Amino acid sequence: MISLGIESTAHTFGCGIISDKGKIYANVTDAYRTESGGIHPSEARKHHENAKDKVAEDALGIANLKLSDIDLISFSQGPGLSPCLLVGMAKAKELAKKLNVPLVGVNHCIAHLEIGKLMTKAKDPVLLYPSGANTQIIAYEAGKYRVFGETLDQGVGNFIDSFARYIGLGFPGGPKIEKLALDGKNYIELPYVVKGMDVSFSGILTNLKQKYGSKKYPVEDLAFSLQETVFAMLVEVSERAMAHTGKKELVLGGGVACNKRLQQMCRIMCEERNAKFSVPPNEVLVDNGLMIAWLGIVQRKQAAKNYDRIDIRPYERTDDVLVDWR
Ligand code: ATP
Ligand code: FE2
Repeated sequence: MISLGIESTAHTFGCGIISDKGKIYANVTDAYRTESGGIHPSEARKHHENAKDKVAEDALGIANLKLSDIDLISFSQGPGLSPCLLVGMAKAKELAKKLNVPLVGVNHCIAHLEIGKLMTKAKDPVLLYPSGANTQIIAYEAGKYRVFGETLDQGVGNFIDSFARYIGLGFPGGPKIEKLALDGKNYIELPYVVKGMDVSFSGILTNLKQKYGSKKYPVEDLAFSLQETVFAMLVEVSERAMAHTGKKELVLGGGVACNKRLQQMCRIMCEERNAKFSVPPNEVLVDNGLMIAWLGIVQRKQAAKNYDRIDIRPYERTDDVLVDWR
């Protein structure tokens, strides 16, 4: 069985193709970018409208498959921006109807977890999912993927991007802050904000802006201290989720997981508690269609041909989804 999946929750329009055996055929993305990094939903929708046909055609071309080779279509149902989600769903329905194959809508956050499991061979991991818009620590317990901890305000990626933009580094800020941090020599104390199992970044952002404005601190030290502080917060909550659930595997997903220092800190924590740590390749850490195609396979029992009854779910939470495939 071959599945074609479409991602369109935010700035990325993606199309991935994968078989039920996990054979990867293609993973094509086209991202809407602005100078500031901010996302304007109707502009992103226009981007996706323009990109959708080419991205799907390119994916089939790279896969060396005909459209008629596809047995199943899946798409990101949520969470995400409605104008963006609607474009992905329309393209998915167009293809499913043309082929007369089943269609299934899937959850974007769970897709990060399931593709991580496939690519790292983890069986029952805790997922640390730090991305632009989201920051969650997720694991399976009693029929659902539960959110053990999450951000109380913005996603860690948006937080890093905001500070990077403030100091004139442009967008996306994550890779630039990572590079700058390599030259940091001194740790400057910043607020460390873990509340229960949740994290928060807005106060740290204000503090960083004040420190930058005071001109007392080298910007490399600020970048270094930013990473050390917020990554320690994420690692702390991940470790507590592992301790609470008794799980022995940690997997990463989300764009900020591309960061080598975050990966290193997670690896050290896992070594210290005799757990297995794994990171899938960058192309599936960021938003992509491949993880959607794979979750389509995983949830194929829910796929159906009553296309008109399938809709987007912009506000769907990870723990809204009943996990009946494990
Ligand atoms: P979501 O998955 O919540 O829809 P998104 O679409 O905004 O989020 P992703 O594509 O998963 O996000 O990731 C983009 C984010 O990852 C940006 O905030 C970017 O700065 C950050 N990022 C990318 N590379 C790195 C890096 N090396 N270090 C830190 N952050 C990074
Ligand atoms: Fe994502």
